[in-house]
Amino acid sequence: MLRRILLFASRHDRVRTFLQTLPASRAIVERFIAGEAAADAVAAGSALVAGRLSVTYNFLGEYADDPQQIVRTRDAFVAFARLLEDGGLGSAVSELSLKLSALGQLLGADGPARALDHARHICAAASEAGVLVTLDMEDHTSTDSTLDIARELRRDFPLTGVAIQAALRRSPADCADLQRAGARVRLVKGAYREPDSVALQRRSDVDRAYVRCLRTLFAGDAHPLVATHDPRLISISAELARRHGRDATGFEHQMLFGVRSDEQRRLAAAGNTVRVYLPFGPEWYGYFTRRLAERPANTLFFLRALTQSG
Ligand code: FDA
Repeated sequence: MLRRILLFASRHDRVRTFLQTLPASRAIVERFIAGEAAADAVAAGSALVAGRLSVTYNFLGEYADDPQQIVRTRDAFVAFARLLEDGGLGSAVSELSLKLSALGQLLGADGPARALDHARHICAAASEAGVLVTLDMEDHTSTDSTLDIARELRRDFPLTGVAIQAALRRSPADCADLQRAGARVRLVKGAYREPDSVALQRRSDVDRAYVRCLRTLFAGDAHPLVATHDPRLISISAELARRHGRDATGFEHQMLFGVRSDEQRRLAAAGNTVRVYLPFGPEWYGYFTRRLAERPANTLFFLRALTQSG
């Protein structure tokens, strides 16, 4: 029920304005989002890097269908890569995270070609700044196209990463392909509601599939990016790293900004590479409501703050 209310709220801008104006709710938004301006993201990123964490920046936006908006998004990423370089963050401690649907992937038959072209532009600017790039994975209808685009980008920019969702039934085979290619692979559980025909539905099955994918990635030539907050999966990945002789240069942990921050610092202090996924930009509202919907405790915390501030 709460989830349905949140998904309803996510489509209504008046709720967004309300959230921004109320001090208590603004504080909760700020827990998950760096801010609306690029400078906010650079400031938050600098603080994380000072704490020995790496960062993946996500200029928020998805499912764009306006060609001008798509070009603006591409240009914002290009400008942001330069801003990172100017701010002394132009190195592998910084990564850009791209959603191809924000770059026109779904815009008709030539959408994937357009998105590839825009992503290439961004990769070129990122590469000049020494910054990495990884492609987010969106719903299952775009998986083939995203993997094709990632393969094309790796020809010129071999360090381009791509996310794989353990929940999808196809993912063990995709992990096997990607490890043969020696790719950087961000392994996630999967954030989209998908039909049974393509995705595992039980959490325990998704967790088992995650471990299976981890084993493939750690044993092979991939560079695993272990993107989960799940304590059990984090300790299995540490064990696999030991078994396969991988140190902090051979894999990394990734977590979301504002989620299990103590654990992020603990893993980094123990000598691991830990990268924080840092979202920013004016289009923060959909991402924020997804984070609330993901966890009932967040929603309750949020509702309590609202009633207390009223
Ligand atoms: P799980 O949901 O089981 O959570 C484990 C524990 O983590 C919880 O018990 C809680 O303590 C904590 N936790 C998790 N989520 C929380 C939240 N929102 N608030 C507070 N605590 C929380 N998905 C996708 O489909 N495509 C993508 O490209 C990406 N990219 C991505 C990058 C990075 C760096 C991360 C960490 C995640 C993604 N995801 C994603 C999201 C992913 O698919 C998944 O929805 C979330 O990470 C939650 O799953 P966990 O693996 O953390 O486990």
